[in-house]
Amino acid sequence: MYRTHNNGELRIKNIDQKVKLCGWIQKSRDLGGMTFIDLRDRYGITQLAFNEELNKSLSEKARNLNREWVVEIEGIVRERSNKNHKINTGEIEIEAEKLTILNKSKTPPFTIEDETDGGEELRMKYRFLDLRRRPLQKNLALRSEMSIEIRNFFHQNSFLEIETPYLIKSTPEGARDFVVPSRMNKQQFYALPQSPQTFKQLLMVSGYDRYFQIVKCFRDEDLRSDRQPEFTQIDCEMAFVNQQEVLETFEGLIKFLFKKILNIEFQDPFPIISYDEAIEKYGSDKPDIRFEMELTYLDDLAKGKGFKVFDESESVVAINVPGCAEYSRKKLDELSDWVKRPQIGAKGLVYLKYNLDQTFKSSVDKFYDSSSLIKWVNKCNSKPGDLILILSGKKSSVQTQLNELRLLMGSRLGLRDSKIFKPIWVVDFPLLEKDETTNSFHAMHHPFTSPKKSDLEMLETNPEKVRANAYDLAINGVEVGGGSIRIHDRNIQEKMFEILGFSKKEAEAQFGFLMSAFEYGAPPHGGIAFGFDRLCALFGGKDNIRDFIAFPKNNSGRDTMIDAPSHLDKQQTEELGIELPKLKD
Ligand code: AMO
Repeated sequence: MYRTHNNGELRIKNIDQKVKLCGWIQKSRDLGGMTFIDLRDRYGITQLAFNEELNKSLSEKARNLNREWVVEIEGIVRERSNKNHKINTGEIEIEAEKLTILNKSKTPPFTIEDETDGGEELRMKYRFLDLRRRPLQKNLALRSEMSIEIRNFFHQNSFLEIETPYLIKSTPEGARDFVVPSRMNKQQFYALPQSPQTFKQLLMVSGYDRYFQIVKCFRDEDLRSDRQPEFTQIDCEMAFVNQQEVLETFEGLIKFLFKKILNIEFQDPFPIISYDEAIEKYGSDKPDIRFEMELTYLDDLAKGKGFKVFDESESVVAINVPGCAEYSRKKLDELSDWVKRPQIGAKGLVYLKYNLDQTFKSSVDKFYDSSSLIKWVNKCNSKPGDLILILSGKKSSVQTQLNELRLLMGSRLGLRDSKIFKPIWVVDFPLLEKDETTNSFHAMHHPFTSPKKSDLEMLETNPEKVRANAYDLAINGVEVGGGSIRIHDRNIQEKMFEILGFSKKEAEAQFGFLMSAFEYGAPPHGGIAFGFDRLCALFGGKDNIRDFIAFPKNNSGRDTMIDAPSHLDKQQTEELGIELPKLKD
């Protein structure tokens, strides 16, 4: 037996017991006659004590141990004279009697501590060492606990967990596909699923009326802190349900998780906001409602006073930032530069300080006197000491830009506490999005989303105005899930493909199997998929989903540890019947 206990286990009650422990050397301190070693595993740290007077050769051996060596230790649990109340095992130590070196280690390229000195790049390359660090171990333990509770919830609610294939044909979730060549079908390719969307719908046709799966999805898209090329969804579908029932069921899942994992109870139903209202109020379809700072439209007050920038813009929109009237010129210039960065894209920033003495100072004093500015202040519900920030331009762009500015100011004012959770359902999404450059339509969610019955007539006449039976769940400004009630009628599905620019032949070639299934008794159905990595990060109080995935990809989609993707050798390409052109330098 290698060990009798783990390194987070021993307490005062174990004193005088003979024990065996295994683990990695965290650090050692040589205090002359005594050597102390911190032994680590994923359960904690236990102090080992080597007394030169009791055993000289053992002490000598201990002195030669280095960081990250793997050892087995045998000894007696003793009460510590110098207790460490910061760790669970801090009242005891092991008086070492026998030490076996199980394996040596090179000096790790960064410290295996909570706060490491290793940069992101290095840690990704040596991910197996990074994963030894406690914050990551905590994250992965949280992820494991969450997936178990998710399965418990679904099991209690009669859902079946059914796996769907990874080697499939394209699913149109809006990103590019990763493709896999087929050796047996030369020059043909599978696509990896962007989601199991079509399969879960087929399962509804097959009568499995409550399905779920914790499943990998693959999307070749630009990466961000909350996007990975392979990520995990909690994918769900139900038959014979309307939107209300779907929302209630999956709100139940999220509430269940909050209670089980974080012991947070949500008494009230989650608030629901329409897509239009979310955009109008917050400039975002995933609003962070932990704080107010809503968008205020100043067109009627700000236009027509000779300030050309406002006069010529489609929309003049403001946010009121509480208590920031004392912002210096320098700070305001920095903010102005921030909104002008290409990622945000504003042309400029106008400010209005509503000083504590109720005087005004603005960057457009020339055009507006205080009798005008007081109206702005009233409309924005500002209080003395507040700062109003204003952007103008194309309405939809200004809304998007102000959303970013709102989030920045919310963070600066400490209004985005990661321990406070504010979920909100966003409903009534538009069915279609128009691509202005090509003048064509894309499905806002995906092509299987059903239009609202009341809007069906507009599908021909005014497709842009048609709303969908689609919904997202946002928590703290993060889109954690999205879904819809589906089309289950072949004719409507055909119509949808037509609007999206598919020819009859193309639609049949790509999705004939689904439309055919709709002709064999497809029940009404709908569902949702949650981003599991995002939920884990949110529950763990962090932004970056990478820290909750054991082996993630970097921002260029690479796994630098295993060095993937990589080139195929000649034999493989020949077998696959693929010829690759030589890359230009
Ligand atoms: P959607 O595309 O909205 O819907 O995806 C569902 C949820 O998955 C998460 N997500 C991601 N997480 C990490 N990295 C990514 N690249 C990534 N892309 C998406 C988000 C998102 O809300 N088939 C539909 C669901 C349905 O209609 O039932 C779908 O996949 O949290």
